[in-house]
Amino acid sequence: MVRIIGFFVGLGFIGVLLISLFTNGLDYFRNPPEPTAAHEFHKHPRDAELPSAGMTGKFDQAQLQRGFQVYKEVCSACHSLKFVSFYQLHDLGYSEAEVKAIANQWATEVPSVNPDTGEPATRKALVSDRFPSPYANETAARAANNNALPPDLSLITEAREDGSNYVYSLLTGYTDQPAELLKKFPDAKTPTGLYYNPYFANLNIAMPPPLISDGQITYADGTKSTKEQNAKDIAAFLTWTAEPTLDRRKSAGWVVLLFLAIATTLAYLSYRNIWANAKRQVSPRGPLDPENRGRMDAAKADQGVAG
Ligand code: HEC
Repeated sequence: MVRIIGFFVGLGFIGVLLISLFTNGLDYFRNPPEPTAAHEFHKHPRDAELPSAGMTGKFDQAQLQRGFQVYKEVCSACHSLKFVSFYQLHDLGYSEAEVKAIANQWATEVPSVNPDTGEPATRKALVSDRFPSPYANETAARAANNNALPPDLSLITEAREDGSNYVYSLLTGYTDQPAELLKKFPDAKTPTGLYYNPYFANLNIAMPPPLISDGQITYADGTKSTKEQNAKDIAAFLTWTAEPTLDRRKSAGWVVLLFLAIATTLAYLSYRNIWANAKRQVSPRGPLDPENRGRMDAAKADQGVAG
């Protein structure tokens, strides 16, 4: 009885689900979602071909240093790196003295307290400090940026889909709004104060193009400083800030794979060893051999014995 009731309750649930699927499906086909400019003109990131990409990828220290230079000379005017400390620059191959000098000469000072008066003050950055925000707080940041907030860049390559390629594509993606877009969506004109960029989710970003021309930055290592190159280098640097231990993770991954391969081989060999006796082909002998069995049955029949 309980089973039958349970069956009908289940049937009721399935019925309700089917009805709702049917009505919603019908609604979708009667009023399909309106096409939007962001849906049709948004582009997926282009491949920045960073050396750190892929299973065996590793950071290129010289590129990270160039990327840091781009951050220092351009992006740090608006973006903080609040999860990265100056001392971590050692990883990029800078010497102790160089890191000290970089912290000491950083354009933005860090918040502090005047030891004599207790009043808020600022002081020069120390090697142990994180990269400071160029703005006192969010209100000041928005006031300076047309009410948009420049996000902290420490983890941006992890926070966006395909982040490293996204940063590269975003920085090189500024262009005029395509005429085709305006023809199809006359209301979607980029508002004043925003910039058209097909890699940004809603196509119109509040960040003015930070990389404007080739040669904007002068590289010390002689690499040709094109806009493309600057964008790749800062994408590499921001990949490092988001995951400074990427190199170690990848080499540890290979060691783990090697260990698993050896362990699997050992396990297979010991399995063969343990089951060797049990699995050996045994041919039936004595009364179990079908031939003997046949002979025995025949002899029994001859002598008139039953069974
Ligand atoms: C003049 C200030 C300014 C400079 C310089 C600047 N940005 Fe921005 N950035 C902004 C603002 C404002 C936003 C927020 C845009 C928005 O929400 O529409 C932003 C957003 C971003 C975003 C996030 C986009 C997203 O998906 O939300 C990234 C990534 C970024 N900037 C990278 C950089 C890099 C790299 C540089 C240096 C090459 C740089 N920015 C230089 C102001 C700046």
